[in-house]
Amino acid sequence: MKTALITGATSGIGNEFAHQLAAKGYRLIVTGRRAERLEQLKAQLDVPVEIIVADLSKKKECFALIKKLEEEDIDLFINNAGFGVAGSFLETDVDKEISMIKVNDIAMHILFKGILHNMQESGSGKILNVASSAGLLPGGPYMAGYYASKAYVVSLTRAVAVELKQKGSQVRVSALCPGPVDTEFNDRADVVFALKGISPKQCVAEAIKGIERNKLIIVPSLRMKLACTFSHLVPYPILMKLTARQQKKKLG
Ligand SMILES: NC(=O)c1ccc[n+]([C@@H]2O[C@H](COP(=O)([O-])OP(=O)(O)OC[C@H]3O[C@@H](n4cnc5c(N)ncnc54)[C@H](OP(=O)(O)O)[C@@H]3O)[C@@H](O)[C@H]2O)c1
Repeated sequence: MKTALITGATSGIGNEFAHQLAAKGYRLIVTGRRAERLEQLKAQLDVPVEIIVADLSKKKECFALIKKLEEEDIDLFINNAGFGVAGSFLETDVDKEISMIKVNDIAMHILFKGILHNMQESGSGKILNVASSAGLLPGGPYMAGYYASKAYVVSLTRAVAVELKQKGSQVRVSALCPGPVDTEFNDRADVVFALKGISPKQCVAEAIKGIERNKLIIVPSLRMKLACTFSHLVPYPILMKLTARQQKKKLG
């Protein structure tokens, strides 16, 4: 039985990954802070589920998680936990932003490296770092820190993919770059989507197809793929103004 590790499995995209990977017969290791949500998830699934409660904004808990998983043979790692902070950079709360950077980048980085070492030793495995279409853009006024945090995820994944290829490694890494997805993300970031979001079901189904095909950058939905292509054709100052307008709409 293959094993998948999923961070941020208590809601949204991570929770949907748990359902779709269980349906594919994976044994699951799921993490999040809300233990009762993880217990509910376990009760809903017909495959073995191990629960590890961890606050990934704490570096110590990230390293403890890696230590706990030392003996595990993980076939697929969905490095997904994350959240956003929205608003003008002059007004956003710096503690919230630091916590966001800790989860979106520091925890993502520590876990990426730790699990990659395990997989490299065992000879194979796949890692999906959950970034965002925000990470493919040059910047995101009014959600500046979040866009920058996701650009980090995209950049790191792209670079590591090249290093692994040059080493002849059998481990594959990808970055998932969705546009809006209907999850609890908005409530946490205190925004409303300017565009209609896709369902977590669609996002995850397309992500799994992308992983199976060893795609480096996975952008779910045709509309978002077109938007990403379009963004390459638009001059930088115009693109930044368009992004600022979309983000401002989200603030309501
Ligand atoms: N929804 C979108 O429109 C969208 C678009 C592009 C990318 N993304 C990315 O997709 C990923 C999943 O987000 P989502 O949309 O599914 O949002 P969500 O429903 O709010 O889920 C976020 C998950 O991250 C976990 N998490 C947050 N802070 C954590 C912490 N300190 N320690 C451990 N776990 C933590 C949450 O678990 P607990 O609260 O239980 O700890 C939850 O399971 C994020 O990385 C997000 O940036 C989302």
